[in-house]
Amino acid sequence: MTNVLREELELLRDLGYTHLDLTARQAAGSEPREEMNETLDDLGRIAAACTQCKLAKTRTQVVYGVGNPNADLMFVGEAPGRDEDLQGEPFVGRAGQLLTDIIKAMKLTRDQVYIANVIKCRPPENRNPEPDELDACRPFIRRQIELIKPRVIVTLGRFALQSLTGRDYSISAARGRWLEHEGVKVMPTYHPAYLLRTPAAKKDVWQDMKLVMAELGIT
Ligand code: URA
Repeated sequence: MTNVLREELELLRDLGYTHLDLTARQAAGSEPREEMNETLDDLGRIAAACTQCKLAKTRTQVVYGVGNPNADLMFVGEAPGRDEDLQGEPFVGRAGQLLTDIIKAMKLTRDQVYIANVIKCRPPENRNPEPDELDACRPFIRRQIELIKPRVIVTLGRFALQSLTGRDYSISAARGRWLEHEGVKVMPTYHPAYLLRTPAAKKDVWQDMKLVMAELGIT
């Protein structure tokens, strides 16, 4: 059994599941896309009830993910902030507006890509996510990636990169170079919140996004 599968089964067991209906999943490979959407939605319902870490006590709501369930391109950020916690959607605050602009500059829309975070609940006062929180939440983003099957993942900032790869990369050294997660190409880049503080780094992000566009055949 893969570690990802084991983690997911442990998560479901901890959430009180005693039986799994696998009929929809078995059919998913050859069935229309609605089957896949349901499964992604199912996972969203599990996430919405999650109490696996202490962030469950302080969140307003779980911020699961948004966008095209069959997206070729997935953006993975860190954790919801205040606006996201209130609205239930990732990247809707100031950093989110900048991400939306980056997506538009790539000749795409938010509806065409999928956007999620490695942490689904807001850390109080927007503090950094803690290791136990990243560990508890990791099965969700891994499973979202498995279900969406993007061709490219862009990780935004250090925590997304480190949580997904399990490695202690420095973001300035890692950005702009292709990595891999479970057979999917990963492009690490700076977090939009960093760009708000350091506008000079926008040109680096644009360089990274041009590599992503080339990989996806966007001209
Ligand atoms: N920053 C993130 O990493 N994610 C969000 O959803 C919003 C801000």
